[in-house]
Amino acid sequence: MAEAIHAALVGAGLVGQVAHLQTLTAPGSPIRLAAIVDASPTRAAALGTAHHVPHATSLAGLADTVSASLDAVVIAAPDPAHHDLASTALGMGLHVFIEKPLALTPTEGAAMQAAVAASGRVCQVGYMKRFDPAPNALLDDLLRRAARITGIAVEVRDPDAAPFVRDFPFVPGTDVPSSVVEEGARRFAEAVAEVLGRLPESSDATAYASYISALVHDLNLVRMLVPEAMRVEAGFTAMGGLQVGMHLRTASGCLIRMTHTQDPSIADYEERFTVYTTRGVYEMVFPAPYLLHATTTLRRIDVKDATERSEIAFINDSTEEAFVLELHAFADAIQAGRTTPVANDVGEAVEDLRLLGEAFRLSRRN
Ligand SMILES: NC(=O)c1ccc[n+]([C@@H]2O[C@H](COP(=O)([O-])OP(=O)(O)OC[C@H]3O[C@@H](n4cnc5c(N)ncnc54)[C@H](O)[C@@H]3O)[C@@H](O)[C@H]2O)c1
Repeated sequence: MAEAIHAALVGAGLVGQVAHLQTLTAPGSPIRLAAIVDASPTRAAALGTAHHVPHATSLAGLADTVSASLDAVVIAAPDPAHHDLASTALGMGLHVFIEKPLALTPTEGAAMQAAVAASGRVCQVGYMKRFDPAPNALLDDLLRRAARITGIAVEVRDPDAAPFVRDFPFVPGTDVPSSVVEEGARRFAEAVAEVLGRLPESSDATAYASYISALVHDLNLVRMLVPEAMRVEAGFTAMGGLQVGMHLRTASGCLIRMTHTQDPSIADYEERFTVYTTRGVYEMVFPAPYLLHATTTLRRIDVKDATERSEIAFINDSTEEAFVLELHAFADAIQAGRTTPVANDVGEAVEDLRLLGEAFRLSRRN
């Protein structure tokens, strides 16, 4: 059996603790926690101590002996920090798993793509839904039935994390230096201005964050289901940027409609993909933003028979956790000596940012 990959978790906040830390500390995992890096000194120290690994508040702050023992980083710090953390890690010769979005703008993403190519290291972006058994079962089913997708509608109602993680024993970290927080906000405002081509208002920033940090998951999954060139036909926002959407058209004429709405006033999540095909309709419903081993429902509604009935089949009952599978795949790619991940490479993520930026610009003209 190949030796486990030693990884530093960089950014041990919500998704870091709920998802990645669980995988990195699971018995027998092919990727193991070797250090904690978090801008909060309290959080870094508490988690480092709890898991018996070295800790620091920055990658550069890790002792040389610790850095030398690392193979990889798992970056789950806030979006504005992604570019610099990934660049630092690549400069240290480390493989990089980075949460979505890869970067704040297509320009920043392209710079990272060049840095990754020059490094010869694996860089995988955290689109965990591509590892969910349900979309993979859907694609297998389509292939088996020689069916073709003719349209997709995606509707997401997102109350954010609170209802799903309320009982999770978080290690708190409220002492991130204000300079780090202010730098992140400054970089985000600059990114919005760059993509928009003018000074942003606060609803612009809310909308852009909804596009690149939330709708990005759905766009990426749509691009897995329909791997064709796409152009953005429309972008729209409402509710002060808490609701965002886009329409895309593929090269073969398939129309894709997507809407993401954040509504913290409810405690219920639904992420529904309706996939129209030449052999019936599929409905795929993700259970929660933090999947937590819950099954993604996948129903196939067949074309009707001579008696005007449509059979309905449930074609996924797997409880395999996409957040776990994605890190295992990252480790497999490194162990196999690959220079690219098995899925979710930086090129795909840069194209996601380009399409989302285009939809965002169109939305702000309305
Ligand atoms: N794949 C998913 O479904 C999913 C879900 C939620 C969040 N995310 C992504 O994960 C990332 C983290 O999101 P979150 O909700 O966990 O955020 P969070 O704010 O809860 O956690 C971020 C952590 O990073 C630390 N941090 C801040 N700046 C840092 C820096 N420069 N270096 C090291 N640590 C730093 C903070 O102290 C905090 O502990 C974001 O990029 C987000 O888009 C992905």
